[in-house]
Amino acid sequence: MRRSLVTGGAGFIGSNFVRHLLAVADDSVTVLDKLTYAGSRSSLEGLDPDRVSVVTGDIADAVLVDRLFSGHDLVVHFAAETHNDNSLRDPGPFLHSNIVGTYTLLEAARKHGIRFHHVSTDEVYGDLELDDPARFTELTPYNPSSPYSSTKAASDLLVRAWVRSFGVRATISNCSNNYGPFQHVEKFIPRQITNVLQGQRPRLYGDGLNVRDWIHTEDHSSAVLAVIDRGTIGETYLIGADGERSNIEVVRTLLRLMGEPETAFDLVRDRVGHDRRYAIDSTRLRSELGWTPRFVDFEAGLTHTIEWYRDHSPWWEPGKEAVEALYGATGQ
Ligand code: NAD
Ligand code: DAU
Repeated sequence: MRRSLVTGGAGFIGSNFVRHLLAVADDSVTVLDKLTYAGSRSSLEGLDPDRVSVVTGDIADAVLVDRLFSGHDLVVHFAAETHNDNSLRDPGPFLHSNIVGTYTLLEAARKHGIRFHHVSTDEVYGDLELDDPARFTELTPYNPSSPYSSTKAASDLLVRAWVRSFGVRATISNCSNNYGPFQHVEKFIPRQITNVLQGQRPRLYGDGLNVRDWIHTEDHSSAVLAVIDRGTIGETYLIGADGERSNIEVVRTLLRLMGEPETAFDLVRDRVGHDRRYAIDSTRLRSELGWTPRFVDFEAGLTHTIEWYRDHSPWWEPGKEAVEALYGATGQ
């Protein structure tokens, strides 16, 4: 039985990944998570306690990390500060968790000779024009825009350097925008769903025409596992499911699915430095590792996600007011 350490396993994608791993493999899992505002033990509720344990701690705590690594075969690294708007308000925690945290894990991976998978984002590549026929590939030059994406880019480069200089057995994946259950209400889709559930109107930044390439978090999980199980050490794999949609299109769809007029949204102040479009070409992952996404019906995925938020108000309601107060302060 593989002993896996999952950093950030109490966050959105990490907790969905832990569930996925327990369902499809026989791993035992230790979650290492600082339980910041974005992490919650309740996202792991109901999982088999004989297979999952949670350690509350910081990935930048070298003593703790060293102790934990010695008992594991694999590290899957999701932990990060992840919200662009927060990184524009206060970049400090992003440098700490995303750069120093990843460095700390890499040093332990080097010492213990442990297999390491680094989870990253398509945002490291910057953005594309709306009419650009190109999509991001593994060869696209890095060009991050925000404090968040620049710290993720830095972490990717650290991983590459630790592979080349110290022989760390690592892989990297860069994925597009995820949606699904357990996503924090600060993020676009949960914010708009929970606004409507609370009788508020969705709020679109700028002209609403920015495009994101949506993938269901279950498909992200299966892709990460494919890279862990079949990927080549030292290589990078882009993860995407051909889900490009403008923000306004997403909001109109979810208003319709929630029984509201499709025009019942507001345009608000744009994000500073707002990336226009992301788009992933995942040919390498599909052709080399035989991966295919399963949750490609976006409306069905959105319907299920709306139902999840409708049924899980105790999970998201406590954080909603504080999030909206932060947005209110910037007119968003
Ligand atoms: P999230 O914000 O929901 O969860 C992040 C988790 O990391 C939280 O549980 C938090 O408590 C934990 N964490 C933060 N700093 C920590 C630290 N110093 N030590 C230990 N734990 C810490 O984020 P998410 O959306 O689930 O993203 C997970 C990973 O996937 C990130 O690395 C992110 O860059 C990447 N990613 C996200 C998306 C997306 O659409 N959300 C897309 C591609 C890649
Ligand atoms: O592309 C992968 C990235 O996707 C991940 O690396 C990040 O961790 C994740 O947060 C996400 O980044 P985005 O900035 O694209 O996601 P966000 O949910 O913040 O916003 C999605 C789009 O919606 C973006 O164009 C901004 C817009 N938006 C967002 C919010 C919160 C709005 O129009 N209104 C809003 O209220």
